Amino acid sequence: MFDFSATANAPKPEIYRQLREAALAITAGEDDGVANMANLAALLWQFLPELNWAGFYRVVGDELVLGPFVGRPACIRIPFGRGVCGAAALTRATQLVPDAHAFPGHIACDAASASELAVPVMVDGRVVAVIDLDSPIPARFDGEDAAGVEALAAAIGGAISG
Ligand code: SME
Repeated sequence: MFDFSATANAPKPEIYRQLREAALAITAGEDDGVANMANLAALLWQFLPELNWAGFYRVVGDELVLGPFVGRPACIRIPFGRGVCGAAALTRATQLVPDAHAFPGHIACDAASASELAVPVMVDGRVVAVIDLDSPIPARFDGEDAAGVEALAAAIGGAISG
């Protein structure tokens, strides 16, 4: 049994440090990328409050394809450059979107999503996936969230690309 949890009321950087520690522990010794993404999506959901979607889009060929997630069913294929996740994959840069409805080309999978954070996962200089977090709260994500998810992405690239 796995029993990971964040310390109640800890500051965000500490929550992300604990999330990273749990992520490394849960993926240690396992090279199945789908299994690891599934557990990582569950950890994101468990550690981060006020989300309505947390999970992965994988780079398959020249598009993003839905991977393991927690939340409502989502659109399956996203071309590079389209929406928040497609922008993250194309530009290889974190997309911190305080108002999802105002983002050009935003793909509304769940009408409840008001803000979004999408972070590319890089392995050997290539984008292999995008971590996507949605929240029903406008401007739910800030620079500390971006830094925390970027550090997570850097830590787990190898575990999800197998
Ligand atoms: N809103 C995303 C699509 C993925 S869902 O939010 C899960 C986007 O615009 O890329």
